[in-house]
Amino acid sequence: MERISIGFIGSGRMATALARGLVTAGLVTADRILASDPNAAARRAFEDQVSGCRIVPDNGSLARDADVLVLAVKPAHLDEATRACDPPVVGKLVMSIVAGARLDDLADRLGTRRIVRVMPNAPCLVGFGAAGYACGADVDDVDARRIESMLEAVGMCERVPESQLDAVTGLSGSGPAFVAAFLEAMIDGGVLMGLPRDVATRLAVQTVRGTSEWMARAGCHPAEIKDRVASPGGTTIAGLKALEVRAFRGAVLAAVEEATRRATELGMPPRP
Ligand SMILES: NC(=O)c1ccc[n+]([C@@H]2O[C@H](COP(=O)([O-])OP(=O)(O)OC[C@H]3O[C@@H](n4cnc5c(N)ncnc54)[C@H](OP(=O)(O)O)[C@@H]3O)[C@@H](O)[C@H]2O)c1
Repeated sequence: MERISIGFIGSGRMATALARGLVTAGLVTADRILASDPNAAARRAFEDQVSGCRIVPDNGSLARDADVLVLAVKPAHLDEATRACDPPVVGKLVMSIVAGARLDDLADRLGTRRIVRVMPNAPCLVGFGAAGYACGADVDDVDARRIESMLEAVGMCERVPESQLDAVTGLSGSGPAFVAAFLEAMIDGGVLMGLPRDVATRLAVQTVRGTSEWMARAGCHPAEIKDRVASPGGTTIAGLKALEVRAFRGAVLAAVEEATRRATELGMPPRP
């Protein structure tokens, strides 16, 4: 159990999921979680989910009182959220989940290079997140390990160079929507073939969950699973042919490519 305190600037959906995960995983006790947010509804929801946490009146107090800071506001609010933190941030470890905010920009705003930039994804809301993170110049191995254990409380994480974070955004950041689109199509396929929608939904969800779990546990290449399921002249190879004819894999590659390109386009420009 960590004796440090962790302060969330912005107590919205991602902050709440992360804070709840930290407490559930036993990394910190709730009384060592602090949060500040101008939105009363967000503060209430955070307090409900992280019972025993401390809500502080402003970002300046939070930056002064917490040992580790988590920047969890929307990109449009980064200016006002960091303005109040001024000198107290120096020397503290900062985790930023603000989409598109680069390490050098954050360092410039906060006056520290002890910053870890994280791209989480939405399944962290249910404890199955996949995050990429990149470290600023003054982040040492102990800091990196601390951030890893925080992210592991709500899923898994991979350390990457900052130049690869847009690709992480295109793959795991946007990925839940791609998987959901695939799931919806699977369900509609089942309905087309006469299954009741609720039955098709349960079967499709479990098929995606089971295949992911199988691959993760076996540590095998996806082609091994495909080859084991597709028997000669059988149903699966007939279905795979339909996917190949319609360039399914090319479409998925292009989805990740487009999402990555868009992440780069939306990234915050350097400040003048
Ligand atoms: N949700 C995802 O799947 C996801 C995935 C990857 C990355 N992210 C990134 O994670 C960050 C947080 O996302 P989220 O979905 O948790 O957003 P959110 O639910 O909107 O939470 C952000 C909170 O920050 C508050 N806020 C606004 N200005 C503030 C200030 N000056 N000081 C402190 N708090 C302030 C907001 O209040 P108001 O509502 O009143 O503005 C809101 O309650 C974003 O940068 C997002 O891009 C999210």
